[in-house]
Amino acid sequence: MDQIMVTGNGPLSGQVPIAGAKNACLTLMPATLLSEEPLTLTNAPRLSDIRTMTTLLQSLGVEVTSLQGGKVLAMASHGTITPVADYDIVRKMRASNLVLGPLLARLGHAVVSLPGGCAIGARPMDIHIDALTALGAEIDLREGYLHATTKGGLRGAVHEMRFASVGATENFLMAATLAKGTSVLKNAAREPEIVDLATCLRKMGAQIAGDGTGTIEIQGVDRLHGATHPVVTDRIELGTYMLAPAICGGEVECLGGRIDLVAAFCEKLDAAGVSVTETPRGLTVAQKNGRIRAVDVVTEPFPGFPTDLQAQMMALLCTADGVSVLEERIFENRFMHAPELMRMGARIEVQGGTARVTGVDRLKGAPVMATDLRASVSLILAGLAAQGETVVSRVYHLDRGYERVEEKLSAIGAKIERVSGK
Ligand code: EPZ
Repeated sequence: MDQIMVTGNGPLSGQVPIAGAKNACLTLMPATLLSEEPLTLTNAPRLSDIRTMTTLLQSLGVEVTSLQGGKVLAMASHGTITPVADYDIVRKMRASNLVLGPLLARLGHAVVSLPGGCAIGARPMDIHIDALTALGAEIDLREGYLHATTKGGLRGAVHEMRFASVGATENFLMAATLAKGTSVLKNAAREPEIVDLATCLRKMGAQIAGDGTGTIEIQGVDRLHGATHPVVTDRIELGTYMLAPAICGGEVECLGGRIDLVAAFCEKLDAAGVSVTETPRGLTVAQKNGRIRAVDVVTEPFPGFPTDLQAQMMALLCTADGVSVLEERIFENRFMHAPELMRMGARIEVQGGTARVTGVDRLKGAPVMATDLRASVSLILAGLAAQGETVVSRVYHLDRGYERVEEKLSAIGAKIERVSGK
């Protein structure tokens, strides 16, 4: 398995191009099932999760052609579609469950494996099931698979989710576009990836209003047509690279960065003593004046502080002046980066969903283990400023959500290289 070696190398400077959003692309791709006409996505990120979704869609009968090195995905589902999402693929990536809504809308039935748990939590699907049942689906669990059917097709409904689940919002939204009548989803997720999906669906002929707010209204239509759509900028990759100069010093411009995608995150950076300036091409980030100040963080659904930036923010706060308290309210087990950061000399006390970080002057390089996607990149960020060399193992986690991370960081002055596994 590959490893990444990173050595503290002083302040960074230069530009980092931010790619299209993994979590937008993973819901935009299944939307191709909603029309027999081609759907083409541009600005797609080149990631292993996207390749996994490609494999899943191809197993359902969708034609997926990757162009321009993976930046363009040309998809067409005009052939026979088989409605079975196999466990072997789904267990690798929870987002595979985003084919459930589109398959139900397209075919009136679907068999989708439950994804099973992952490192950060049990990740059940009850909110998805309640939402699709409200639209007239009958869903039962047999041998680890969700068997979903509809008698007479999906019907519009008013439904309030118990929690603003991102994936359940996306499944409901896609299914409701072809349901008979009007649907209203309450307590809907408001993430930018939801808005991006709704924007693409409108290009395909869907009638959707209120995306980006807690109440989304969908007027079902008889059919959708093809479209071409650019994947929105990845706000999590953006926040991750914004933390590089915050941790190491220097000044870095994140190309394609938009402040509206990371407003809550920027508020915390400002409080910690990090300046963020909008430029014609993105966002420029630098330390304002010397040592980072401790700040408290609570993760919440958008527009709150994103859970997907919690691990990376902890890496910054390990060397802040003072004590920071991070509360993880979205997932039940998302502090696995803490013991690894402690191997580098960080002082962190974890109690349930709360981590208390007491800043130290400097971390020290050490061999560490990636446990999940965002934890792996937090270890890289910590290694950028640590004294000596950090060796991060199991970097396959990293490749799920970050394209060419060592190239992008080397280009701004980091001392980092990937060593191919034995
Ligand atoms: C999406 O996951 C993202 N993934 C996650 O990013 C992100 O962390 C998460 O939203 C929250 O923002 C994709 O978009 C592909 P949820 P999703 O449904 O949709 C519980 C990354 O690092 N829940 O909003 O699965 C769930 O267990 C990944 O890129 C239920 O209990 O998130 C979790 O505790 C990680 N029942 C919470 O809600 C359900 O039916 C949030 O889940 C669904 C969810």
